[in-house]
Amino acid sequence: MLSIVLSGGVTGIDGYVVRVETDVTRGLPAFATVGLGDSAVREGRDRVASAIRNAGFRFPMDRITVNLAPAGVRKEGARFDLPIALGLLAATDQVDPGALERMVVVGELALDGSTRPVSGVLPIALAAEREGVSSIMAPSGNAAEASALDSLRVLPVASLGSAVRVLSGGEADPCPRAPRADVSDVAGCDLCDVKGQLFAKRALEIAAAGGHNLLMVGPPGAGKTMLARRLPTILPPLTRGESVTATAIHSVSGLLPPGSGLLETRPFRSPHHTISSSGIIGGGRVPHPGEVSLAHTGVLFLDELPEFRRDVLEALRQPLEDGYVTIVRSMVSVRVPASFALIASMNPCPCGHLGDPGSKCLCTPAAVRRYRLKLSGPLLDRIDIRVPVTAPGVKELQEGGQEPESEVVRRRVEAAREMQRERYHDLADVWWNASVPVAALIERVRTRPEAIEAAGAAMSRLRLSARAYHRVLRVARTIADLASEETILALHVLEALQYRGAE
Ligand SMILES: Nc1ncnc2c1ncn2[C@@H]1O[C@H](COP(=O)(O)OP(=O)(O)O)[C@@H](O)[C@H]1O
Ligand SMILES: [Mg+2]
Ligand SMILES: [Zn+2]
Repeated sequence: MLSIVLSGGVTGIDGYVVRVETDVTRGLPAFATVGLGDSAVREGRDRVASAIRNAGFRFPMDRITVNLAPAGVRKEGARFDLPIALGLLAATDQVDPGALERMVVVGELALDGSTRPVSGVLPIALAAEREGVSSIMAPSGNAAEASALDSLRVLPVASLGSAVRVLSGGEADPCPRAPRADVSDVAGCDLCDVKGQLFAKRALEIAAAGGHNLLMVGPPGAGKTMLARRLPTILPPLTRGESVTATAIHSVSGLLPPGSGLLETRPFRSPHHTISSSGIIGGGRVPHPGEVSLAHTGVLFLDELPEFRRDVLEALRQPLEDGYVTIVRSMVSVRVPASFALIASMNPCPCGHLGDPGSKCLCTPAAVRRYRLKLSGPLLDRIDIRVPVTAPGVKELQEGGQEPESEVVRRRVEAAREMQRERYHDLADVWWNASVPVAALIERVRTRPEAIEAAGAAMSRLRLSARAYHRVLRVARTIADLASEETILALHVLEALQYRGAE
């Protein structure tokens, strides 16, 4: 007898519905899977057989053929265990095939018949919704994630036994929820933890407000990492759409903690400088999102920027320019969102102490030059704000002023973003000052004559290129937005010029 169970697969971060067709016929006992499953699907056969027996059902000693359709797309992972097991039980009259109609089933099985959470449930649920499926059966640990969509009924199951019970009209298992959907590990950080550092904090606020990338240059211990980790805390809360995309990216990467639903906080990623270019951009036999995509909607922190491999730094140019990456692998090319705030840090020289009043720099001028040359012009071109960060004095650390809390700063950031939303609302995409096309920037930005004069004088004094001039204008526009000024004044331009340090 033939049975059909719907399940799902993922390409990049997009889900699709897969038909699991199970045929059981008389003949020598055999169990074949076709439809380009990878080794995990083949290993799944053994798990499925054990789970069926150990859950107290009958495993048919017949010829079994399981076909995953559409064929020709590489399917990955153990998420077909549960649909294959249910397909076998349906084909042998142990469950009612009618109960499986308009239902998508995903889940890995342990040998004892209990279910284990799998990756990619949210994108599969989105695909199921698109195709008019009405319910999704998933392991309990994935249920909160599947529940992110209101229109799908979610049936959490802790075991194959529960799944069969649910299909014959029984209650689903409870849906455990993680206390908080947070993958950023910056919980508990607040800008007010950082004493002093007014200049760096101001730079952080401007970067957050206008979507500008930021580079901090300073000796070890100056507080660069501490500052970077607080950038997510001053960004506006995630919109629902942003949260769905960020959750889907974490889900397909297997990085959502069991029981977590939609992400509630912006991601913060800080890959080590030994990372490979496929680690940062994404890739692998079945393309996986890289760090730039895991940071989507949030922050990518590159600590010790010049230590990163040259090809890694080169590879950052596409996502910084386009907000997505294209991952090409033998048969497929997938596009994955990768729009993030870049914050980077570096030492002023290889030993870290150049310009440090407390310690002596031991580097030769040639070594310092080589160190800085590791950062290519095109990458630096995309970093609007560059600030020196010096170690705080003991006095600063002990006394501290009244440090503003992240929430206060975040409200100013949101107000400045609202001004940008209005200014650029008729353009096709959502734009911030840092990324809006240059023509739109120039057409919509009002500038006082003195401000133009100040900018012109700086251009010739600092020998700024036209490109650099536009970067200054973008930062000045954000500074004016933070001051609720529709017109850029000379003081905004002068402040913007201060953030081009280390040039
Ligand atoms: N402005 C500051 N306010 C409070 N603590 C600070 C400050 N700057 C540095 N520190 C302390 O020094 C430690 C080292 O700072 P860190 O951010 O790791 O420096 P860096 O990344 O520049 O090497 C921090 O963990 C923190 O305890
Ligand atoms: Mg550090
Ligand atoms: Zn040095």
